[in-house]
Amino acid sequence: MVNEAKQLDTLLKENRVFHPDPAFTKQANFNDPDIYERAAKDPEGYWAEQAKHITWFKPYDKVLEWNPPHAKWFLGGKLNAAYNCVDRHRQGPRKNKAAIIWESENGDSKVFTYEMLGREVDKAAHMLKNLGVKKGDRVAVYLPMVPELPIALLACAKIGAIHTVVFAGFSSKALRDRIDDSDAKLLITADAGWRRGSQVPLKAYADEALEGSSVEKVLVVRIVGEASGAKMVAGRDLYWHEEIEKASKEPFPAEEMDAEDILYLLYTSGTTGKPKGIVHTTGGYMVGVNTSLRSVFDLKEEDIFWCTADIGWVTGHTYLVYGPLSAGATVVIYEGAPDYPERDRFWKIVEKYGVTIFYTAPTLIRTFMKWGPSYIEKHDLSSLRLLATVGEPINPEAWMWFHKYVGREKTPIVDTWWQTETGCAMIAPLPGLTPTKPGSATKPLPGILVDVVDDDGRTVENGGGNLVIKHPWPSMLRTIWGDDERFRNTYFGKFPEWYLPGDAAHRDEDGYIWILGRIDDVINVSGHRIGTMEVESALVSHPSVAEAAVIGRSDDVKGQAITAFVILKEGNEPSAAMTAELKETVVEQIGKLARPEEIIYTAELPKTRSGKIMRRLLRDIAEGRVLGDTTTLTDPPVIEELKRLYQDKED
Ligand code: WT7
Repeated sequence: MVNEAKQLDTLLKENRVFHPDPAFTKQANFNDPDIYERAAKDPEGYWAEQAKHITWFKPYDKVLEWNPPHAKWFLGGKLNAAYNCVDRHRQGPRKNKAAIIWESENGDSKVFTYEMLGREVDKAAHMLKNLGVKKGDRVAVYLPMVPELPIALLACAKIGAIHTVVFAGFSSKALRDRIDDSDAKLLITADAGWRRGSQVPLKAYADEALEGSSVEKVLVVRIVGEASGAKMVAGRDLYWHEEIEKASKEPFPAEEMDAEDILYLLYTSGTTGKPKGIVHTTGGYMVGVNTSLRSVFDLKEEDIFWCTADIGWVTGHTYLVYGPLSAGATVVIYEGAPDYPERDRFWKIVEKYGVTIFYTAPTLIRTFMKWGPSYIEKHDLSSLRLLATVGEPINPEAWMWFHKYVGREKTPIVDTWWQTETGCAMIAPLPGLTPTKPGSATKPLPGILVDVVDDDGRTVENGGGNLVIKHPWPSMLRTIWGDDERFRNTYFGKFPEWYLPGDAAHRDEDGYIWILGRIDDVINVSGHRIGTMEVESALVSHPSVAEAAVIGRSDDVKGQAITAFVILKEGNEPSAAMTAELKETVVEQIGKLARPEEIIYTAELPKTRSGKIMRRLLRDIAEGRVLGDTTTLTDPPVIEELKRLYQDKED
């Protein structure tokens, strides 16, 4: 726990408290301080109250059925997520309100009102149906942040198909793994995407992934055109723009989904083995995400909501699509990089559209800090009234910088802790009620029962331990696609009735939660979750590698950076070329996001007597710390050797 202890030490010296501005509290959606206690006493009553903000085709009969580890919410209720996100707003005063403001990297923009979005979603739903997609079928989506991406998701939801989005930064191999696991029959992709002015050959990646897969048809969004060089496979590939032309312009009747019917799968990394297909269902997820928009984000009719995440991650699913649209908000979707063409791109966007709520990741804030405040100071950010962060612990300096330069010392900051599995924010302040402390996600939201417990499950009042969630919540994952056993073991293996997120946390004397990071072998690089096992498997797939151990070492900007310790097979020599090749292997197998920052060659790896690689020790070495307890090691000199190698590398 050396790592955590060091971090904790800095965090606990943090004693600044920021109280909500009474003017903010007065106008806040959630401003009754009793809400926490009322919801804690009767979580089901609280969620039933929130469920009124969702339109049900048929009311539910029962709020919750809990047979640990399986929860069912809003039993018997019928609804449709796309109907809630689009159609119901077309029937009232929001009909001509902007639903999506989309801006591309090259500066083009498009605005979709709720009415326009609804027409596009309906046409896309007809198109999918024409292609034979039915309720319950899986549709894989591998697209950059173009408008067709949210439209595709909503069209799937409208017909009851299960979408599974694969982040466009993932490799063909990662795409193939997800297609295979979900058994998708349709893939929606693009000829190519743009990133900092260069093309990303998505179609070529997809072609590689598709050979011999379950996918029967591919819909291709034309983004780049001729210059992409994308090849269409006759009988399999179809252009989105041609097929949608053929689709009916009639309204598409929303499929009546059961509250517990699956809305989507989203893959995320775990400790061992292949990525897990997290299953989210319709009713509970919609209630959860909609509630968080009104509570944590204090969403109002006139807000312009911008979440900078990619729709390829859960943050984008929840806070670019299902959350804000279900609440009738205007969302900004930006396709490009934060420094393209200049480092002020984000602030230009805030100014141009008058963004009021801005939701981003600590890693980006640290990048902005590095660039300096001049890019911000060039722009009028006075429209901003609420700032939010997600993805990893926010260090107090980054929090203070965000507060000072972006929030102009006026706006509340909500640090939101959650996971792909939780569906929406779980631990976060209510901006009108909860005093904030820089670096703490503060308290669980109303209706969420969080505790910090030791390994025997005993509550730790003031101190560190395992974060647990002791009562089910509507937007929780229902299982892992095709592997309920793994679901049980991963999240309920340690405590059969409590959900175990896999994070360590500290609770202070005011009951505030400070997230310390993962307790398992999962790395968080720039807010993206990567399993050490996945990177290790990629490395050992290279013919020259005998063994590999991967760790996350702390990094000032990314939070964590990947360091790989590699043992080469006999007859192979470490070299710069070898390093480049190994890094490339990881990119090919997983994607750029998993590329190791550094590779250290060694003859041995430190292991426990039971043969488990001691990652903690490797982390200590990579971070240049004194060694912790090594008594369980088989061969202590290994560490000395590793330390020496690491120091050599740095010189
Ligand atoms: C893991 C979940 C859903 C958000 C995007 C990441 C870490 C997330 C915070 C935060 C400290 C955080 C945790 C968590 N994490 N938000 N505000 N403070 N840590 O989703 O890929 O499923 O990763 O990200 O370690 O377990 P994810």
